[in-house]
Amino acid sequence: MIVCSCNVLSDHDVRHAVNNADELPRNAKQVYGCLGCSAECGRCARTITTIIEQALGPCVDGCLAGCQHNQAVSQDDGFAFAAA
Ligand code: FES
Repeated sequence: MIVCSCNVLSDHDVRHAVNNADELPRNAKQVYGCLGCSAECGRCARTITTIIEQALGPCVDGCLAGCQHNQAVSQDDGFAFAAA
């Protein structure tokens, strides 16, 4: 299913980026970077964040020492949009 129409990214693309990137993406902005694109309208940010959380499972709230995901970063979605 396409989750980002601006960049034509599927849920599979996002899961693949989360599971296979050298540096684990923890927010939508980082997923875009892993997939070689950038945010356009931002409407997909929440959906991408949800897919990231599902893919990380219990690691989303922080990993134990030694976990491959324990390099992380902030929990924000990586977007800062000005109010219209
Ligand atoms: S739908 Fe993803 S940036 Fe527009």
